[in-house]
Amino acid sequence: MAQIHLIHLLSLLTFFSLSTAARFPAVIVFGDSTVDPGNNNAIDTILRSNFPPYGRDFKNAVPTGRFSNGKLPTDFISEALGLQPLVPAYLDPACSIENFTKGVAFASSGAGLDNATSNLLTAMSLGEEVEYFKEYQHKLRKYVGKSRANYIVNEAVYIVSIGTNDFLSNYFTMFTGRFLQFTVDKFEDFLVSHAAEFLTNIYKLGARKILFAGLSPIGCLPVERSTNLIREGQCKTMFNEVARNFNAKLQRMIADLGIKFPGLRLIYGGVYDLFSEIINNPSRYGIENVEDGCCATGKFEVAFLCDSRHPLTCRDASKYLFWDAFHPTEKTNYLIGDVTLHLILRELI
Ligand SMILES: *[C@@H]1O[C@H](CO)[C@@H](O)[C@H](O)[C@H]1NC(C)=O
Ligand SMILES: *[C@@H]1O[C@H](CO)[C@@H](O)[C@H](O)[C@H]1NC(C)=O
Repeated sequence: MAQIHLIHLLSLLTFFSLSTAARFPAVIVFGDSTVDPGNNNAIDTILRSNFPPYGRDFKNAVPTGRFSNGKLPTDFISEALGLQPLVPAYLDPACSIENFTKGVAFASSGAGLDNATSNLLTAMSLGEEVEYFKEYQHKLRKYVGKSRANYIVNEAVYIVSIGTNDFLSNYFTMFTGRFLQFTVDKFEDFLVSHAAEFLTNIYKLGARKILFAGLSPIGCLPVERSTNLIREGQCKTMFNEVARNFNAKLQRMIADLGIKFPGLRLIYGGVYDLFSEIINNPSRYGIENVEDGCCATGKFEVAFLCDSRHPLTCRDASKYLFWDAFHPTEKTNYLIGDVTLHLILRELI
């Protein structure tokens, strides 16, 4: 059953890559580690993953800086749209503007909607990501000419994935003081207003087809299960409730902004239900473990703690929902990419 399901999905991807090639000239990505292909390799931060076993399932096992054993959802989407098989990182020193005409990622692992999140985790802020987007446009105009550059910027599909760190690393850890400053409800409003500010900024810079991803059940990440002191090993239901509330507010903001700006097609990309579906029916997807990360003990290890010499690291990551204690496996990223691609093809073309 699981095999049939996957083959079905793969054939859909192939089908779409044939029929939609050239409908979108580029995939442009903003956000955090869920979509960062390695920008953090080039900045001063401890939040990196450019060493084994990260990237283990790439050809030659290249650790690119992606927080997974292989590709990210945005890579699968780019490939299925007939663009590049991997979306390059804007700060990759091996790349220049010629490598970015079909897509580029400005995302930075550890980034949040709240600047305090990015500061805490020594990531680029979303504002810095936008500054690089401006620089990119400038270079693109020089490289392909003004009218082609404008076409790429206007017709590209924009994918934004951010917000988990604002809750799990910032608000609920109490490291930044936001916990004292806001109720969780007000903090959600604060984040949504900054998401709106960001979307307005990229709209003004020419973005017209945008998918903004919501949060997953953040209380079910391995690191949250293993720090659940009330019900050991279980999801933190309160965190999941926060994610659902936040997602609902995000959806309302997205609907409002979509009406406010002429020519803007802005959609919400929900991944919450997909995660719940996999957690409830893992065998349907050939998955055996939805609780622990594959890397090391799978309970808390992320970044430099996910060490290639750890004896407990799993053999077959495709049987796991999570790769490390925080991030999905390539298998899960494929499923996210598939669901997201369907939304893009239905709503943004
Ligand atoms: C960048 O593009 C150039 C020219 O097309 C190519 O030779 C090079 O391999 C690309 N670099 C990367 C890292 O993809
Ligand atoms: C982050 O800082 C920028 C300027 O550096 C500001 O425009 C933006 O509103 C700030 N966002 C948050 C969430 O504090």
